[in-house]
Amino acid sequence: MSNITVCARFRPLSSKERRDHGDAVCIQYVDSETFIFKDEKAEELTFSFDRVFYDKSEQIDVYRHLAQPIVRDALNAVNGTIITFGQTGAGKTYSMEGPGVLECDAVKKGLLSRVVEGIFECTKSSDETSKYSIKLSMVEIYMEKVRDLFDLSRDNIQIKETKTQGIMLNGMMEMTIKDPQEALLTLSKGIANRAVGETQMNIASSRSHCVYMFTIQQESTKDKRARTGKLNLVDLAGSEKVEKTGAEGRVLEEAKTINKSLSALGNVINALTCGPMGRGNHIPYRDSKLTRILQDALGGNSRTALLCCCSPSPTNSSETLSTLRFGARAKHIKASPRVANEDRCIRELEVFTPIKRESRDKLLNELQENLDIEHVQKLEELFIQEGILFDPCSIEESELAYEDVTSQTISSLQLALEELLSTIGELKKENEELMGRVSAAKLNHQPISNSNLLPTISSILCLFTDWLKSFFHFSINHYN
Ligand SMILES: Nc1ncnc2c1ncn2[C@@H]1O[C@H](COP(=O)(O)OP(=O)(O)OP(=O)(O)O)[C@@H](O)[C@H]1O
Ligand SMILES: [Mg+2]
Repeated sequence: MSNITVCARFRPLSSKERRDHGDAVCIQYVDSETFIFKDEKAEELTFSFDRVFYDKSEQIDVYRHLAQPIVRDALNAVNGTIITFGQTGAGKTYSMEGPGVLECDAVKKGLLSRVVEGIFECTKSSDETSKYSIKLSMVEIYMEKVRDLFDLSRDNIQIKETKTQGIMLNGMMEMTIKDPQEALLTLSKGIANRAVGETQMNIASSRSHCVYMFTIQQESTKDKRARTGKLNLVDLAGSEKVEKTGAEGRVLEEAKTINKSLSALGNVINALTCGPMGRGNHIPYRDSKLTRILQDALGGNSRTALLCCCSPSPTNSSETLSTLRFGARAKHIKASPRVANEDRCIRELEVFTPIKRESRDKLLNELQENLDIEHVQKLEELFIQEGILFDPCSIEESELAYEDVTSQTISSLQLALEELLSTIGELKKENEELMGRVSAAKLNHQPISNSNLLPTISSILCLFTDWLKSFFHFSINHYN
């Protein structure tokens, strides 16, 4: 069973779109899961998703199909993430917040208010032996910096990972919420702090990715066991073609950063979808703050829902097509949910089993043999400065820091290998040309010096490439 739900949503035509193209739309209804899309060249493509919401769909339909099952799971300690994705002005924030989270029309209220209500309803209807505590945090990722929306002075929050709690944001505010009204009031304060700008496509365009994090802790009054479920709601900043949105100066820089992190998200999805399954497949989560924060939620220990928000107008058909392709690709993510954070004591014990100690000692011995003490100390100093290593005595964090460095090394090796291969390709071409000239010269009986060196250079280059390839494969297999 696939644990990612992908839905498409087409908002009603905007007044500008109506002015430009009248009532024309680029989609044709087939049923609640399938539609035909007409691209710029009037070619037709059929798309199917778990659900398609057309312009007359209600906010409650989106909640029921996309969010409700994830909310229920989060109360049973299965992590979940709901993402709104799409072009600027396509309806991501509208789907998430509705016209506003406070005093909103009951029909128009968005996913956030409904999720809050859903959480509290579930806690009320659960059996009496469970006690819940709900915490809320809000961060935005603006220009690749993580900012706490409940305390703007915390504007460069570091992301860390522990084996017991997964991804954590260092020093982030967590508000305990007791009822839906308190939650909505808290949310509205955070939303007011979001970075908003104006583009030609949207007068209130979100210029940051916003992550709403609910942490739901369930304690059994019978045996005192605690379980925790994390529920993330992510309102992404819009993808945009800068020439179309008229971005310049700071807005242009914002747009470039937004597009870069969205493409990192696309790369992670691509790696999860197309790469070989198993530990040998490198997923570049660390390439952006967004993918790092969502690491728990994509392809791992979580249920994920993606709402692809689109304009139905032919004016935006190329952006709509890329949004739909993104969603179609995501549908192939293979994820296996499992109950998260259950029985922490047991999991903590697992971390320190003798087998893990043994493998750690083996790795440390290998490192000691190959690096001298001064290098190890310098590495340690660097980790602490970068905030990767918080407590050098902690085995767990040292292991994770080691994995971080390994992963970054693999990414840069991949890049270096690509560059090297292209240089070698160019050199080979040049070499072939030279050989051609040598042969031609020989035919004309002209002496050419060093001509016998060229095949030697070529074979050395080939040997070097082979060596590099085998080293690279060894690194991936060895460290993963
Ligand atoms: N389903 C809908 N029904 C009615 N109005 C909608 C709907 N979806 C979006 N809108 C309207 O379209 C406009 C743009 O929507 P929204 O701000 O949600 O876009 P966005 O995808 O968040 O864009 P950005 O990436 O720039 O933040 C808003 O005025 C919003 O009210
Ligand atoms: Mg928005």
